[in-house]
Amino acid sequence: MITSIFRYFSVLLFVGLSFSCQTKQNQNNELENETTIADSAMVVSARKEASKIGLEIMKKGGNAFDAMVATEMALAVCYPFAGNLGGGGFMVYRTNDGETGALDYREKAPISATKTMYLDENGNPDSELSRVGSLAIGVPGTIAGMFKVNEKFGTLPMSELLQPTIDLAKNGFVVTSGQADMLNQFQTTFLEVNKDSILYSRQFNPGDTVRNRALAKTLERISQNGISEFYGGETGSILVDFISNYGGIISLEDLNKYEAVWRSPVKIAYKELNVISMPPPSSGGVVLGQILKMIEGYDLNALGHNSSKYIQLLTEAERRAYADRSFYLGDPDFVSVPQDSLLSDDYLKFRMQDFSFETATHSEEIEHGKIIGFESDETTHYSIVDQFGNAIAATTTLNGAYGSKLFVNELGFFLNNEMDDFSAKPGVPNMFGLIGAEANSIAPEKRMLSSMTPTIVEKNGKFWMSVGTPGGSTIITSVLQTILNVYEFDKSMQEAVNAPRFHHQWLPDEIVFETKGFESDLLDSLRGKEYKVIQQESRILGKVDAILRLSNGTLEGGADYRGDDTAVGF
Ligand code: GLY
Repeated sequence: MITSIFRYFSVLLFVGLSFSCQTKQNQNNELENETTIADSAMVVSARKEASKIGLEIMKKGGNAFDAMVATEMALAVCYPFAGNLGGGGFMVYRTNDGETGALDYREKAPISATKTMYLDENGNPDSELSRVGSLAIGVPGTIAGMFKVNEKFGTLPMSELLQPTIDLAKNGFVVTSGQADMLNQFQTTFLEVNKDSILYSRQFNPGDTVRNRALAKTLERISQNGISEFYGGETGSILVDFISNYGGIISLEDLNKYEAVWRSPVKIAYKELNVISMPPPSSGGVVLGQILKMIEGYDLNALGHNSSKYIQLLTEAERRAYADRSFYLGDPDFVSVPQDSLLSDDYLKFRMQDFSFETATHSEEIEHGKIIGFESDETTHYSIVDQFGNAIAATTTLNGAYGSKLFVNELGFFLNNEMDDFSAKPGVPNMFGLIGAEANSIAPEKRMLSSMTPTIVEKNGKFWMSVGTPGGSTIITSVLQTILNVYEFDKSMQEAVNAPRFHHQWLPDEIVFETKGFESDLLDSLRGKEYKVIQQESRILGKVDAILRLSNGTLEGGADYRGDDTAVGF
């Protein structure tokens, strides 16, 4: 009784004193975020406003799934770069009684899409068509995803979850310095693609307030009329007319037929951890699982964090896993993905048998196994843990920055360019440099392959971590390194997120390093072993947002200083 009274008052105290992280400079003058600790509930997302809106829902008694809807919708207002109504995403969850699952609200190819729709008269892909403007748009899944979550796990009505976002859209959000730079960079493109001015086509300064009244009205209609408002009502009609006016092919039938789907997550046993991640149509869980299993037999701590040998080992496992990704993975509703074989111990042992610390394997010598882009931050991830012990990891995207760049003025949101995640032609890279094959070719109503890797990790059977990141093809390797940083190298959650990262994806055959945190001696030693090393100006990999359950039961947030990401909790 005394304990529960104490706990009640301590929760009240924490409710009053919401914690949030601060960006600071470390001894090397590098930016990093300070640690955020909370007693029982936390949201970590790309924007302070969205994290706070999610947290407020939990303070009112809502659970992590309620907070998910509120946070994701708030990101659509204050993080138009990737937050969306016009895109899609994935979510992995673990309830307080240990049930796990995954939600697929990925975009789909329109019914009129064809396998060769991006090929010119010479049979070469026209990447402009799959990346910019109306033909790049996949049928949006986000609103269907939010209703699906609410239907199964919600404890508060959608109208209550949408209201804070409607208020945010009406009252406005304040543009950060990074946001102003990014919006200004795209000003000309917005004007060109939309052939008109849009809400975001003016010059921005940090501190400006943006009010999105059209989005507030759209959300009000969805709040009143439910899911059918977006997939068939007034909003759906405005959307289809808009896309059609710009020469696109998404029809009302496409919207009517769209459904979000519950899927069984990929589960990977790694030492004492159980890693639960997104299955196809994301490659995230399978590729993450392959890499973890390929490196499991090594003593990573003895190799040393970000040492030459550690980088070699991860690189070689990544090379082999991404080669398999390119050949085998696609939408499981359309192609048979040999998931069990790709994750089997024998197969992965066989894949690593020619690895040696002496010298690099070359990607041209590696194909997919036989079974018997510049960093892109356009996606966004958030993690939530509630006071009841439920946890979610959700990653949502428009694909490219501001998606297709088409902005529906009347509805207040950008539309995705997710069609570029298909393989327009086997062997030709997409905007992330990823090569695809038949498994990821375009077909009507098929979902394009993703790298998004929302992940929940259990330790000794209990919830331990929720983690994910944006970053296109680099998502998987950033999630991998964050888990290893905590588990193998005893870093705190925030230190694990702050730590410098590297990436390899089979093709192009190069290791990409963040600009900060890797000494030239280290890079030279890798060059000496025939690795191609890429380290460019201002290069970052991912913006990881994560939550870790500490051994005393409290929660530690990891909010990435690489963006405006913020952890808040009570
Ligand atoms: N659009 C990035 C991804 O889904 O991987």
